[in-house]
Amino acid sequence: MSLLVTGGAGFIGSNFVHTWLAGSDELLVNLDKLTYAGNLGNLQALAQDTRHVFVHGDIGDRQLVEALLQQHRPRAVLHFAAESHVDRSIHGPLDFIQTNVVGTCQLLESVRAYWSGLSPDAQQSFRFLHVSTDEVYGSLEPQAPAFKETNLYEPNSPYAASKAASDHLVRAWHHTYGLPVLTTNCSNNYGPFHFPEKLIPLVLHNALAGKPLPIYGDGMQIRDWLYVQDHCRAIARVLEAGRPGETYNVGGWNEKPNIEVVRTLCSLLDELQPRTDGQSYAEQITYVKDRAGHDRRYAIDASKINHELGWRPQETFETGLRKTVQWYLDNQDWVTAVTSGHYRQWVDLQYGG
Ligand code: NAD
Ligand code: TYD
Repeated sequence: MSLLVTGGAGFIGSNFVHTWLAGSDELLVNLDKLTYAGNLGNLQALAQDTRHVFVHGDIGDRQLVEALLQQHRPRAVLHFAAESHVDRSIHGPLDFIQTNVVGTCQLLESVRAYWSGLSPDAQQSFRFLHVSTDEVYGSLEPQAPAFKETNLYEPNSPYAASKAASDHLVRAWHHTYGLPVLTTNCSNNYGPFHFPEKLIPLVLHNALAGKPLPIYGDGMQIRDWLYVQDHCRAIARVLEAGRPGETYNVGGWNEKPNIEVVRTLCSLLDELQPRTDGQSYAEQITYVKDRAGHDRRYAIDASKINHELGWRPQETFETGLRKTVQWYLDNQDWVTAVTSGHYRQWVDLQYGG
C-alpha cells in the first residue's frame, strides 16, 4: 500500500507528510517541483526514513507521473501542489494558471490512465483527494452566513480563480469518467513551516528583524484561521471516510480581523521574546496600501465534515498561535534559510516602495 502526495515540500503538504507518517507505516511518495515555496528543509526529519520517497518533479510531467504511479501503485493521490499566494498571483497570474489549472488537469489525466488499469475492486477503493481553498467562494458581507459547500463559486483573485478552475476539473473527472474524487475547501492555515510571505509568518519574521509589520488597508479584513495540523487531520479523515464526488469545507470557527491577529502575535512575542528596548512589537505596525481586489471576509461553515465525519479542530486559536510563535522562535535557522536569495526580491517587489 502506498500514497502519492503532490506538493509535500510546501507548508501544508510537509505538515501532512509528518502528521501522516507519525501514525502509519504506509510508503508515502512525495512529488514536488521545489518552487520558491517548496523546501526540503521542511522534510529534514525524514531524511533517513524509508517510508518517505521524495521525487523532484512537476505534476504536469505526464511521463514522470505515470511512471511513478506504475512503480508505486498508490491507493490514493493527495493533491496539495499549487501556486498559493494571492499577492504573487496579482503580480504574475500565468504561473497560477499553468500549475493550478493545466498542471491539475495533466495530473488528473495521468491518474485516470493509471486508475483505468486497476482491478474493479482497486478502482472502487482508489481516491483522488484535491486540496482546495475557501477563496473559491469569494468575499462575504459582514453579516452573511459562513460558506457552505453549496455556495456559488465567485472567485475574485487570479489565485482563487485558478483554484476554482481546478475544483471544476476534479468534479468533471468524477462526473464524466467516474474517478473517485474528494475535494476539501479549507480556510487560512497557520503553523510550522509556513513560508514568510503569508501574513502570520511574515509578521513574526519582520517583528524579530525590527522591520515594519505591514497591514493592508484598514486591517479589518476577516479570515477564519485554522491550525495546519487540524487541516491535516481533516484531510486524513476525508480520505478515510469521505464520499466520492463530495466536497468538504474545513475551517476553524475562528474569524479574526487581520489587525487583531497581528496584535495577538505582538503580545505573544512581547511575552516570549521581549524587545530589548522594552517597547511592544506593536510599535512596528504600519498601515500600507491595500491589496488590489482584497476580499473582505472569509468564513467557513464546517458542519458537514463535523456531522458526517466527526472532525473538528483540536487546537483553539490561542493554543495554536502560541505553538506557532514558539516554533518560529525555536527554528530561526529554518527562517534564515528560506528568507535568503529570491525571498528578498519578492519583498522588494511587494513592499519595496
Ligand atoms: P505552498 O505554496 O506552501 O506549497 C506548494 C508546494 O507545491 C510547494 O512545495 C511547491 O514546490 C509545490 N509545487 C508548486 N508547483 C508545483 C508543480 N507544478 N509540480 C509539483 N509541485 C509543485 O502551499 P500551501 O500553503 O502548502 O498550500 C497547499 C495546498 O493547500 C494548495 O493547493 C493551496 O491552494 C491549498 N490551501 C492552502 C491554504 C493556506 O492557508 N495556505 C488554505 C486552504 C487551501
Ligand atoms: P495571506 O496570508 O496572504 O492569505 P490570504 O490572502 O490567502 O487570505 O493574507 C491574510 C490576510 O492578511 C489577507 O487579508 C491579506 C492580509 N495581509 C496584510 O495585511 N499584510 C501582509 O503583508 C500580508 C502578506 C497579508
